[in-house]
Formats: sequence, structure tokens, C-alpha cells
Amino acid sequence: MSVWNKHAIFEKNSIILIAGILVVVAIGGLVEIAPLFYLKNTIETVEGMRPYTPLELAGRNIYVREGCYNCHSQMIRPMRDEVERYGHYSLAAESMYDKPFQWGSKRIGPDLARVGSKYSDDWHVEHLKDPRAVVPTSIMPAYAFLFATPLDYRHIESDMKVQSVSGVPYTPEMIAHAKADVQIQAAADDPDAPKLQARYPKAVARNYTGNRTGEVSEGDALVAYLQMLGTLVDFKKYDGKANVR
Ligand code: HEC
Repeated sequence: MSVWNKHAIFEKNSIILIAGILVVVAIGGLVEIAPLFYLKNTIETVEGMRPYTPLELAGRNIYVREGCYNCHSQMIRPMRDEVERYGHYSLAAESMYDKPFQWGSKRIGPDLARVGSKYSDDWHVEHLKDPRAVVPTSIMPAYAFLFATPLDYRHIESDMKVQSVSGVPYTPEMIAHAKADVQIQAAADDPDAPKLQARYPKAVARNYTGNRTGEVSEGDALVAYLQMLGTLVDFKKYDGKANVR
């Protein structure tokens, strides 16, 4: 019996065959997966990425709570039609502080990965209050209540701490200023805005929903979040090929 006939033992005994398959698949898996944990470039570092500001994070929580991901993806695929419609395809690094990521799996509405600064704040407010007022054929539900609901950010520090456990680099300073930063970013002309921007480069502080009560609403947080999506990486600098958008 030559060595090549030894596989007969696998062919005649299904349990041994299954064990054999598991061993082979495990080796294949290790070879493919293990290096990803050691390679420095598994996720390219890309200039411009930073953690969400507390207000943006609160807005993101509302996005998740309301299930916007059921109808919207946040991942532009590297196909020509996508890139022409939405802008530069999404980079892995753009989701690196997104825990959990919001890639989504369904597009009943358009991709939102680069919706930031595509529309005015007023457009977003109108659209969220009554989508059909701006897009008559829209089937998106209305979220008018968000603008009448004060934002509950009592636990924003804990939120940031949880995020930092999973790898988002929130510093103790950022966490200590979290509540104040929510108010600074949701107000127009707050004198402390430069301090917010020192902590979170490119953070935009303004009165997103034009409310006069001075109270931060859930709508403020959601619009602040939508308006920053896809605005952090400057693709003109990123590479010469990335001339879209
Ligand atoms: C039932 C599916 C559905 C849900 C849920 C939904 N949307 Fe939409 N959304 C749509 C559709 C369809 C459109 C395209 C028509 C329009 O602009 O209203 C759209 C458009 C948008 C746009 C404009 C995008 C663009 O580039 O023109 C934004 C921004 C948006 N949605 C945000 C949200 C947010 C935030 C939520 C959660 C609070 C949400 N959507 C929930 C279906 C949905």
C-alpha cells in the first residue's frame, strides 16, 4: 500500500473525514486571518479621521435608534456608477471609529456615507420633518418629533467610555468636556468653539436647527451627524486618482 492510498481511512469513516476537514480548514483560516492581527496596514491610516464629537455621537445614536440603517447604507462601493453618484468609494479607515459600523445592507433610500454638506441644514430639517415637502415622491417616514424632543445626553460620558474600550481614542480630556462640547457645538458663535475644534478638527459648531430656545434637541444632534458624514477625509490630498467629488 503506497502512501497515497492512506486517504482510504478518511473515505470510509465520516467522523474521521469531518475531523480531517476541520484541521485543514483551520490551517487555511489561520494562514489567512492571523496575519491581519499583526500587519500594521490592515487598516490604512488616513489623514483627517477623528472620533465623533459628543454631539455627533449622540446624533449617531439616534440614527441607530430610529433604524435609519434599515433603508440607508453608508458604504460606497468601488464601482463606477456608485462613485459617480455618491463620490469617492468608502475607505476602511472611514469606518474605523464607527462602532458598530453603519454600512447597512439595504438601500431603500440613497447611500449616506458622503451626505455631509450636500444639503443645507434647513433642507435636512424640512426633509426630516416632512420628507414629502422637499421630495414629493419620497417614501421616507417623517421624524418631526425629533425636533420637539430635547436631547438626553446625561450619559454621553459613559457612551464615550464604552466607545474607548472598543478602541476609539477618546482622551480623558474629551470625556471631561463632553457635556459642555454638546452645547458648544449646537450653538451659533459660542466663544469656546475653537476649543472644541482643537479637540475635534473640522468640527462645525452652529445652531443646526435654528431653534431659539437654546435647548439642544434630538434633531440638532441628528443633523450635526448627517452634516459631517464623509467630510473628514480630504480626497484631493488623499491620492491623485481620487478626483471624484
Ligand atoms: C422606509 C425607508 C427609510 C427610512 C427608515 C429612512 N429613510 Fe431616509 N430616505 C428614504 C428614501 C426613499 C429617500 C429618498 C427620497 C428622499 O430624499 O426623501 C431618503 C432620503 C434621505 C436623505 C437624503 C439623501 C440624499 O442624498 O438625497 C437623508 C439625509 C435621509 N434620508 C436620512 C434619513 C435618516 C436620518 C433616517 C432615520 C432617522 C432615515 N433617512 C430613515 C428612505 C428611508
